[in-house]
Amino acid sequence: MGMGVEIIPCSATMAAEIRGVDLSQPVGTEMAAQLSAAWHQYVLLLFRDQDMDNQQLKSSAAWLGETSQISMPTERRGDDDVEIQKVSNILDQAGKPIGALGDGEMWFHHDNSFTEAPDKATWLYAVELPSSGGNTLFGNCYESYNALPEDLKREIEGRKVLQVYDYTIREKPARDDLKGVPHCWQPAVVQHPITGRKALYLDRLMTAAIDGCSEAESDALLAQLFPYIERTDYEHEWRLGDFVIWDNRCSVHARRDFPANERRLLKRGKVEGDRLIAAPSVSA
Ligand SMILES: [Fe+2]
Repeated sequence: MGMGVEIIPCSATMAAEIRGVDLSQPVGTEMAAQLSAAWHQYVLLLFRDQDMDNQQLKSSAAWLGETSQISMPTERRGDDDVEIQKVSNILDQAGKPIGALGDGEMWFHHDNSFTEAPDKATWLYAVELPSSGGNTLFGNCYESYNALPEDLKREIEGRKVLQVYDYTIREKPARDDLKGVPHCWQPAVVQHPITGRKALYLDRLMTAAIDGCSEAESDALLAQLFPYIERTDYEHEWRLGDFVIWDNRCSVHARRDFPANERRLLKRGKVEGDRLIAAPSVSA
């Protein structure tokens, strides 16, 4: 790392804090390469005490790639800016939410898995926080894959999973009737394009089916697999000015509940990704 920059691992299996980098300023080529390498190694990077307006936030992850547009419709996005989303429970004077994904717990999930080319990274920046709660939990999906028993690894190799946009807040959709429901078949096990490592790519919030078997078999297999994804490798307790950026291809995240009568505002943005690569079969 460059002068005065430190990398401090946050847990045994994922996440590192970067000290000595001000993301409101342009990051040079050499520093960009070093941050990118650390991010791929640790899956998640934390930068504390950052002070950024929307304009600066838009280039905060330029060391990793192109900023992606928020896919949510404007009324759920809560911000005029197409590259920044407010994640908040705060209501405006008319009692209307200023942001999306307000409060309550949320199951472990990968962001944007229901799109053809899911964003490779998501970042969150803490602007207003409740007095307690609202921690974000992160799971390392390389570890999830590694922890699978051999028979389960063999059972899912080469399979695809149906990723559906927030089907849990509607009903579980029928596989043959997905009109108007954002969805995409993705590899059950992805190979990371940079690290080459295998990561389990399914979750209880978005994954509705696994291909090549009956609905009952699919439900049973997914029920066996979900617990491997739902692991907390790193729990982030937010402080104002925290900027956290993680790799969506090899991690999942979830949120703990927080007091509904307290304000919480995080800003959220994403970095564009490519189509996912299916991991080669182990038994091939
Ligand atoms: Fe998310």
